[in-house]
Amino acid sequence: MRILVTGGAGYIGTHTLVALHQAGHEAVVLDNLSNSSATALDRVALITGTKPEFVQADIRDREALEELFSRESFDACIHFAGLKAVGESVAKPWEYYENNISGTLTLLDVMRRHGVKNIIFSSSATVYGDPEVIPITEDCPKGQCTNPYGWTKSMLEQILTDIQKADPEWNVVLLRYFNPIGAHESGLIGEDPKGVPNNLMPYITQVAVGKRKKLSVFGNDYNTHDGTGVRDYIHVMDLAKGHVSALKKIRENVGLAVYNLGTGVGYSVLDVIHAFEKANGIRIPYEIGERRPGDVDANYSDPSKAWKELGWKTEKTLEDMCRDSWNWQKKNPNGYEA
Ligand code: NAD
Ligand code: UFG
Repeated sequence: MRILVTGGAGYIGTHTLVALHQAGHEAVVLDNLSNSSATALDRVALITGTKPEFVQADIRDREALEELFSRESFDACIHFAGLKAVGESVAKPWEYYENNISGTLTLLDVMRRHGVKNIIFSSSATVYGDPEVIPITEDCPKGQCTNPYGWTKSMLEQILTDIQKADPEWNVVLLRYFNPIGAHESGLIGEDPKGVPNNLMPYITQVAVGKRKKLSVFGNDYNTHDGTGVRDYIHVMDLAKGHVSALKKIRENVGLAVYNLGTGVGYSVLDVIHAFEKANGIRIPYEIGERRPGDVDANYSDPSKAWKELGWKTEKTLEDMCRDSWNWQKKNPNGYEA
């Protein structure tokens, strides 16, 4: 298939480009590079041997989208483009709603005008809020999000659902990601956060590479086996392959479908630190700090629906995730910056 990949220069996007290539699909990337670098696409080319066509543009730029859709034909869009920093979204709600929601509305309008009505949307486990039951199935009611970023995902799921209901020609696959970490095994592509990392694994790798002194563990009085927060970490290459599997559903004219993409196994912050130390032979200094507002005790998926309906299963272990995260960081201590 010929796929438009919005946000394709980003962390999950670049890994998905590799998976798409391996599965024989052709990708065109549209990204405004607001949180990524064109170098990432050169690195994808080193892995796959082919550089995907790249359009530097914003999903809010109707003219640029019209020009692209008039020039090229697409079978489907994998829509990663969006702002994703939880804390920043609390400080800049307007920017998050405008970028993520206005941008997606513009994209959807141009898509339908050009008869492209197949979309895979990057949603998040954040839409479940503080889940009533874990492991979380797709039937678990959506909850109260704790930040504007989360609300953009929840609202966009609703918008896409309503659009598909009104026009059954649409095929919409909502993928709710749990916690992607890791990197392609080559170490050529990986997660490259700007500034101080918000998320656990990039913080750990920056401690390991000597950029940060120690990790602060956000609370050890949660209702979990060791008191630290439990999450469902998924290797980004497994996640990337989930998108390829979801394309099969689009081909089958699924209408609307929702899938959790996770491993179904929860690990605590201390589990991850110890797994990283063991996999890489590096000590990670840490201290126990305050809880981070908005964090929940435990959050992990029941991914059996994706196993059954997509034939997709995660293959990589926490050890693989720790080894590949470190391989990327040590080969690229400053990310994509030379
Ligand atoms: P990322 O920031 O690395 O990638 C997003 C890409 O979108 C970036 O390259 C950025 O430049 C681009 N972008 C942002 N706004 C744009 C716009 N208006 N027009 C064009 N391009 C734009 O993030 P990621 O981790 O690869 O996440 C990809 C998607 O998955 C996002 O929608 C994110 O919200 C979602 N998601 C991520 C996680 C996670 O933990 N990484 C978890 C759940 C969901
Ligand atoms: N943590 C620390 N120290 C840090 C960073 C994180 O102890 O420096 C802890 C957190 O308290 C949490 C765990 O590590 O218990 C994971 O935190 P992350 O920030 O890596 O991930 P979250 O589960 O909080 O959130 C991530 C994304 C969200 C997304 C969600 C989906 O940031 O955007 O996964 O489950 F919605």
